[in-house]
Order: sequence, then structure tokens, then C-alpha cells
Amino acid sequence: MAVLSGKRVLLGISAGIAAYKTAFLIRLFVKAGAEVKVVMTPASKEFVTPLTLSALSNNPVYYTFVAKEENKDLWNSHVELGLWADFMLIAPATANTLAKMANGTCDNLLLATYLSAKCPVYFAPTMDLDMYQHPSTKENIETLQGFGNILIPATSGELASGLVGEGRMAEPEDIVKFIESDLRSKLPLRNKKILITAGPTYEAIDPVRFIGNHSSGKMGFELAKKAAGLGAEVFLVTGPSNEQISNSFIHRIDVVSADEMYNACHQYFKNVDIAILSAAVADYKPVKASSEKIKKSEQQLSIDLEPTKDILASLGALKTNQFLVGFALETQDEMANAIQKIDNKNLDLIVLNSLKDKGAGFKIDTNKVTIIDKSKKISEFSLKSKEAVASDIFDIVISKLNE
Ligand code: CTP
Repeated sequence: MAVLSGKRVLLGISAGIAAYKTAFLIRLFVKAGAEVKVVMTPASKEFVTPLTLSALSNNPVYYTFVAKEENKDLWNSHVELGLWADFMLIAPATANTLAKMANGTCDNLLLATYLSAKCPVYFAPTMDLDMYQHPSTKENIETLQGFGNILIPATSGELASGLVGEGRMAEPEDIVKFIESDLRSKLPLRNKKILITAGPTYEAIDPVRFIGNHSSGKMGFELAKKAAGLGAEVFLVTGPSNEQISNSFIHRIDVVSADEMYNACHQYFKNVDIAILSAAVADYKPVKASSEKIKKSEQQLSIDLEPTKDILASLGALKTNQFLVGFALETQDEMANAIQKIDNKNLDLIVLNSLKDKGAGFKIDTNKVTIIDKSKKISEFSLKSKEAVASDIFDIVISKLNE
């Protein structure tokens, strides 16, 4: 799972020989889809140049409180750097930097940034064998762990001094793996399975014609991506849609008609923890699809329609521990109708979107929703991208699951 994708990484480099390895570290983070900013201690520039790191990270590299630019003095705000980051990694973390971090010293930009950062902080120590064994180093590492900072332990091997033992900074690949697995273990939907429906359904009239609707599937696909990003395994049952998805945590199940969607949903529902039904399922289907193409004639043509099975209501009736979310698209008495659906279909949440709102609805990238829970608590949201709407929906789902 691309847990580092889109993450903002603040890499703090102190003056150890392993600083040269940070060039590889930055490459790995960037390759994994993260954005990297670098803050260095002044002495670390002797080991690796800011120019190299700036070129690799595609960002300026910070090492002084004040930067000169076109004869202007610019303040490199350690507070802003700390707030920008999703996490900070101090690698290599030398004995000196560890000691200063443990004691709150902030006589350089890296330390001031560390002290003001509110995000999680990882640190990867590196030093010579005896320095690593020294009780003061051990105590400093314990102090930092006590602050909630996360140790990426040094490994054993040949050290720059020629001695062999513990004190090598973990290899860049191992640092990245360590952080990925730590981030994954903290995802709110890890070990959860989710069923999501998306798109329209097509109800055949004859071999070439169908009854369908304008749903593109965008909302359901955004929900699937968000769920996977939060650590869930997703079963995405989708009607005909041009949306593409490639993620090993999302299983795409393509269906065409409401009946096929019903069968697929019933196959997966019993094994999931959450189900979100965002598909625009046809409410009616032809009683009988003609096996041959219907020829045109001068006569009026009527097609007998019968209701499709209501997938959401059928899952609501079956529900044991599953958290069930429905969507509602209303054009009149929207709130009253949506609230009624919560009770009628045994839902935990309903997401109401109104076609009356400009920028909301089918085939576009934005949506405006109101979310109502079982206790009839109403949360209204502004017009947002469907990606942001998916985040809002999961914020509420996760807070309800944790209640
Ligand atoms: N839905 C479903 N199966 C159907 C029809 C709808 O699972 N055969 C689901 C949709 O995926 C959505 C919810 O029901 O989550 C609400 O759909 P909507 O069209 O707003 O309402 P209906 O229940 O069809 O009621 P009405 O047409 O009366 O508004």
C-alpha cells in the first residue's frame, strides 16, 4: 500500500558520515510519492552538499535561521517547517544532536524545528561503537522515546572508524520500510474490510439498448481510494464506469445490472465491517429483455417495467455488526426523505446530495453533501472535490466506529 504517497517528510540531517546516504533516502521517499524538505545542521554540509539534496528533493534546503536572497534577509521559520510536515525524520542523528534534542537545546535550525514540531518524529542514530554504548547516549535515546519520538535502531557492522559493532545508521531502504510499516500500523481502518458500490446500472431492453443513468462512478471510486489509503481492504462493486483504479488493496468487481450488483453485494457483505452504497442503481428494469433487437415501427412502443431489488434495504435487513452507509439523491423534501430512509433501511449513516446544489451531482468532480447519522445528527458540508467529500464521509464513519 502506498502509505507514503502524498506525505510531507521533513528530513533533519546532522553531521555524521552516514549523511551521504540521505541522498538515497530522499530518492526513495520521492519515488514513494512523498514530498521532502530538508533541514541540516551547519556541520552536516561538510558531508553532503545542500545543492545535491535540493536537486533530489526539488525543494530548497534549510540550514540557517536567516537566508539571503537577492540582498534580502529571509527568515527560515522553524515553526512553519514543523507545521508543514506529516512527520519528521532525523537521520543521521549523531550523539551530539541526540543529546541536544533530549535537553531542549536549540542552537541551530534543525534543533529549533525539532523542538517546535508537533508531528511524529523518527530518529535514526549513528555514531561510533563506544559512543553508542555510552550510558549518556542510552539515556538520551530513552529520554527521546519517552517524549514519544520513534527510534529507528542503529545496526551492527563495519563503522567509519574501522571498528566493527553497533552504531551504523539503518540503511535507507530499511528506514523507509520501518516508517511505512509504522505508519500502516497506525491507520484507522487497518484490518477492516469495506464493500463500496459505485456507478450506474444498465437494465437491458434488448441486446443493444438499456435503461441507465448519468452516474459516472467518481464518488464511489474516490471512496474506494480513500478507504484503501486509510488501511482498509476494499471490495468495489461497480456498474459500467470509465473510472480507472489500480491499488492492490482494492478488488474491483464489475457488474452491469441491478441484479448483478445485488448478487455481488450479497456475496461480500457478510465478511465486511463497513458497506457504503453510493451506486445509482436503477429502480426499474424491463420485465423481459427482448432477445432480439427491437425493430422500429410506426406504432407506439411501451416497455413494461418492474422494480429492481433494493440492495441497500436488503443489506440493512441482513445486517449484524456491519456499519451501513446509504446515499440519497432527492429533489424534494430532501431532509425528511433522507431521515426516513435511515429508519426504513436500517442504516447507520446517510449521505444526502441534492441535485439542486450547483456543482453537485453526476459526472462532475465536485459534490455538496449533508450527512445524517442514526441519532439524526446533521452535518452539513460546503461544495468540495469528491476526494474531499470522501474524506469527510470517512471522518464521520471512523468517529462513529470509535464511539
Ligand atoms: N439503492 C440500492 N438498490 C436500489 C436502489 C437504490 O441499493 N435498487 C441504494 C443506492 O445505492 C443509495 C440508496 O439506495 O445508497 C438511495 O437511493 P435513492 O435513489 O436516493 O433512493 P431510493 O431508495 O431508490 O428511493 P426513492 O427512489 O424513493 O427516492
